[in-house]
Amino acid sequence: MTASSANPWRLSVAPMMEWTDRHCRWLHRQLTRCARLYTEMVTTGALLHGDARRLLAFDPIEHPVALQLGGNDARELAVCARIGEAWGYDEINLNCGCPSPRVQRGAFGACLMEHPTLVAQCVRAMRDAVQIPVTVKHRIGIDRVQDYAFVRDFVGAVAEAGCAVFIVHARNAWLDGLSPAENRTVPPLRVEVVYRLKRDFPHLTIVVNGGVTTDAQVAEHLRHVDGVMVGRQAYHNPWWLASWDERYFGMHGVAADRDAVEARLVDYMARHAPTLPGGWYAIARHMLGLRHGQPGARRWRQVWSDHRLKSLPPHEVAQRARQALERSLVTGK
Ligand SMILES: Cc1cc2nc3c(=O)[nH]c(=O)nc-3n(C[C@H](O)[C@H](O)[C@H](O)COP(=O)(O)O)c2cc1C
Repeated sequence: MTASSANPWRLSVAPMMEWTDRHCRWLHRQLTRCARLYTEMVTTGALLHGDARRLLAFDPIEHPVALQLGGNDARELAVCARIGEAWGYDEINLNCGCPSPRVQRGAFGACLMEHPTLVAQCVRAMRDAVQIPVTVKHRIGIDRVQDYAFVRDFVGAVAEAGCAVFIVHARNAWLDGLSPAENRTVPPLRVEVVYRLKRDFPHLTIVVNGGVTTDAQVAEHLRHVDGVMVGRQAYHNPWWLASWDERYFGMHGVAADRDAVEARLVDYMARHAPTLPGGWYAIARHMLGLRHGQPGARRWRQVWSDHRLKSLPPHEVAQRARQALERSLVTGK
């Protein structure tokens, strides 16, 4: 398999609010060139009335990168999709899976699954506005409804409007009292539903999401569907991404070792920290899992998360983190 023959949705990192900002995506690009990256959800309201530059600016190395939009007004979504395309995004993704109370009050996110005709209108309006793919990320059901026909009819209606890529978080969204975090763990995963969607809509690109933490799981999913989206495990154990290009896209990996990735991120911090309200920590926080499972990782992470060091230049903090790591290797503590 060559990269050009690989389906672009084969492996991706999920959109995650507060986590997959541009700095996190820049780090992920030091680890994988091929996996698709997604922004945090950006609401149409924020984009139309807020600081578009702050919400949309990204580094060209982040390609392929998708902008995830949250909203329910076809006209506004079309305008935002056009803005996203003009900024250079490779895909517009509509969020139909977020269960947070704030999003429910705005009547978008997961609640949209109850309104497939509206979602179809939104998708059609966005498709008419842009050339890049318009995709949808959704759940397999709402509340306790386990009826396959619900998600099948949703996908069918939205596909009719021209959406060809569906990213399916293989859990229901329980909209009655669970927190967003609980909604990522409590409703049971039912991946068979996603496999069945692929069987019923073989011409669509179906990507499964939810609870993926190992290569064995990825391999199993890829026997049934077109792609796998990984969220929390990619964030907490980013070094996993360093094996993806070779394993899933038939390309040479880009990252030599963790030290090289850290060194590049420290240079990046030195360039960007002066413009960030949180200083270098706004970037370093995304790297805290880089040595996940390695000897000395805990000591190294303690230095990078020590708020008393925030006023020091990042290169100096890096030096202290290295010393702590080496000390820990010698003492075993
Ligand atoms: C901190 C956090 C923020 C999230 N924000 C979003 C979001 O903005 N848009 C979205 O579609 N999903 C969001 N999600 C859900 C993930 O995209 C993904 O569907 C979910 O975490 C399940 O995948 P996983 O088990 O691989 O983490 C978020 C998840 C987390 C952990």
